[in-house]
Parts: sequence; C-alpha cells; structure tokens
Amino acid sequence: MIPDPALPIETHARATLDDSADDDSADRTGPLPRYLLPDTAGLDAIGQLSIGGVDVLDLVAEVGTPVFIYDEEHLRRRCRQARKAFGPRVAYASKAFLCKAMARLAHDEGCCVDVATGGEMAVALAAGVPAERLVLHGNNKSLGELEAALDAGVGRVVVDSFDEIDRLGRLSAERPGGSAPNVLVRVTPGIEAHTHEYVMTGQDDSKFGFGLSSGAAEEAVRRLRHPVSGVRLVGVHAHIGSQIFAMRSFQQAVSVLAPFVEQFGLEELCIGGGLGVAYVGGEPNPSLGEWACAVKDEARRAGLGDKVVLSAEPGRAIVAGAAITCYTVGTIKELQGLRTYVSVDGGMSDNPRPVLYGSGYEAFLPRDVGARRPSAVTVVGKHCESGDIVVRDARLPAGTAVGDVLATPVTGAYGHSMASNYNKVPRPPVVFVRDGTWRTVVRRETYADLMALDL
Ligand code: LLP
Repeated sequence: MIPDPALPIETHARATLDDSADDDSADRTGPLPRYLLPDTAGLDAIGQLSIGGVDVLDLVAEVGTPVFIYDEEHLRRRCRQARKAFGPRVAYASKAFLCKAMARLAHDEGCCVDVATGGEMAVALAAGVPAERLVLHGNNKSLGELEAALDAGVGRVVVDSFDEIDRLGRLSAERPGGSAPNVLVRVTPGIEAHTHEYVMTGQDDSKFGFGLSSGAAEEAVRRLRHPVSGVRLVGVHAHIGSQIFAMRSFQQAVSVLAPFVEQFGLEELCIGGGLGVAYVGGEPNPSLGEWACAVKDEARRAGLGDKVVLSAEPGRAIVAGAAITCYTVGTIKELQGLRTYVSVDGGMSDNPRPVLYGSGYEAFLPRDVGARRPSAVTVVGKHCESGDIVVRDARLPAGTAVGDVLATPVTGAYGHSMASNYNKVPRPPVVFVRDGTWRTVVRRETYADLMALDL
C-alpha cells in the first residue's frame, strides 16, 4: 500500500522538454485530467477505463504488460484534422511512431508520410504507401538511401547539404532519361524556438539544413536550379524544433522564409513539425487547426502568394495523445522521509524520454480513473540504473498496490519509436483498439527475438 499523506512533490527540473508543465496552480491530487486520455476513452459503471469500447483491463489480462494501447479513432481523427488544416501535401512524421499499420492508417486518411531514413522508407513502402506520397528527410542520406528513393520514385526529397546536392547530381548523371526528383531545400531560418535544446533545430548553429543568414540557403537554391543538378526544386522546408507551444516561433519562421520563397518563385513552403502537446495536467493542448490558422495568418501578413502551397509535417500532435502505456506494479518501496518508489515492469527501454529530456508524465490506475491521487510517488522501471525513471513526480490513488495495472497517458510519440532492448528487455507490443475490438499491430518481442541477430 502507498502511504498517505503524500511525500513532497519535486518541482520540474529547469529547461526540461516539458518546461511549460509548470502547473503549480493545478490541483495535482485530483483525478487524471480527462483531456490527457485518448479521444474515445470512457468509464464503465465501476469507473474502469475503456478505450475504443474495449475494457483496458480485459485487454491487459490477455496481452500482458507492458503494452502500448493506441486509440485508432484518435489517430484517424488527428490525421484527418491535419489533412483538413494543411491540405494534401501534409505529411505524418513517422519518426514519432512507425509500424506498417500506422503508415497505412496515415495514408488512408490522406496524409503523406515523412520518412527520415532508409529504414523508415522501407516500412512505409512495405505498408503499401505509394512512393509518391513519401517525403525523404535526413541530414546524412547515404548514396544507397538516395538511390532507393529515386528508384522507388519518392514524392519529395528534402535536400540538407551540399554533399547531398553532389550525390543527387551524380545519381542523375548515372540514369540519363530518368525523371528528376522533386526536392525541397531545407533551410535553417535562424529561429530559436522555445523548447528543449536537444530538439531545437531552427537556430543558425544546427547540423540541419542550409543557413539563411550565412547565404548558404541561397547558394543551395542556385546549385539546385542548375540544369545539371538532376533535380526539380519545388520549395523550401524548415523544421524549427519539437514540442513547441509558442505559435510566435512558427510565425517567425514563416515571416523569415516567405520572402525567400517569393524571391525564387517557389511553389511550396513546408514548416515541418513541432506542435507541442500536453503531457501533464495544466499544459496547453493546441489543435492542429489552431496551428494551421496561426501559420496561414502569418503567411498572408508576410505577403506569401496564394499559389504557394503551405504544408506541415506533424508527428507528435498526431500520435502522442492517442496511446497509453500499461504496466504492472511489481514492488513498492517506502523510504521514510525521502520518497516512495513504485517499480513497474518496463521503464527507460519503452520510454526513454524522462531520462533523455527530463520529460514529465502523469500516472493513474485504469481500474479507478476517477480516483483522487493523494499519494506522491516516483514511478521507476526495472533497469539497472537509478536514472530509470518513468514518472518522477507521479500522483497515485491511495491504496495503489503490488499487482495493480498502472498506466501513463500521452505515450504515443517517441516511446515505441525510441524503445530499446536495454538489459535485454523485450519491447512491448502495440495494440490498436477501435469499435469494441482490438488487434495487435506489433507483437511483443520474445527472448528468441533478442538473439535473432546473434551468430
Ligand atoms: N519534421 C522533421 C524534419 C523533424 O525532424 C521532426 C522531428 C518532425 C517533422 C516531427 O516533429 P514533431 O511534430 O513530432 O514535433 N525525440 C524527441 C523529438 C525529436 C523530434 C525530431 N524531429 C522527443 O521525444 O521529444
């Protein structure tokens, strides 16, 4: 049993990815805020959680823990919202969460798919996404990756360096008569978005893209437009960072890039991804529609012609809130006067974000979603590291006990996709729920999988 009264809650570490989670004013002992749960989450008569009409604890009883449970309707709605907000060239950034089912879903709902490596491209193609609907990114695409992209006929290649321009030129010289790929030039607009340093990408000092202020972007356009470049330059791409709430940052990027797009008479401006989502109570949760409005308003103010296609590449905003991760509580250690540790059967291998960025999450019990959460605890994983924290400042109901299923909401982005086998922990399965049924779209890894590559 977890002791009550609660131990003091630590304040959020400075400069974490979820800085704006500073919700001192919110009553953190209350039940989990509803808006952190997937769209179709509901409660049954005894307060137990269902998603997509599926009882979460029944599902867990069959599939085991840890498990990522995605609300398929939530995913589909967000893709449709993105498509409605930005039009047919909007791309789902698959790095946030990718498996064949997800790539297919994004395509079915009218989104292109942004792939950042040959591996992501292979998954999307295997899922049946037409190559024309793929956007290939990467600051260091290999010759092989570029060749595969040209062979498949990807819709857009986002060119990131002078070396890549040379590589594309070489490849096109080797295939005379082949159709020239459509490319966007990635520009770093010199914007320091308000977010965690590790996911800030729009500033001048960045490994991504061509700097605007240094003149590199202009030089890249000059080379890409050269008759022997072997490509067709269609537009500009910028991605200023991730988990950004300040619409002003996106608007600054647009106002800086619009004159560049106009100067060269280009057809497309893609503002990348980066829209922030709420992870903990008190954080804002801007919609894709609000984001698009802010960006389009600025484009108009900046005098961007109507003919220029304005698009975007959201990842997190599509998938983060769609999933919860369910774990089983294995041990509870109460260190008098210090802290209570609640250990679960996963950890940094299924969600490295708290360790990497100091990201904050919430925790709750699916068996009693409406319960107040007076107990302050630290939820930790099963890995051999003190830093293996799942939720540093978790609040849980009194009476949380060993054997309880404990869930963390908003784990749909950069959890499964950044998962590892550290300590040879098999990665959890991914289950999609919808209309009262569920299907496993990625099965749980086995010990045999862990040795599959050993010779
Ligand atoms: N486009 C490009 C070129 C990107 O590099 C990214 C993310 C996106 C779109 C999608 O950004 P989103 O809408 O998901 O913010 N692992 C970090 C996030 C890294 C983001 C990398 N690039 C995290 O867990 O927070």
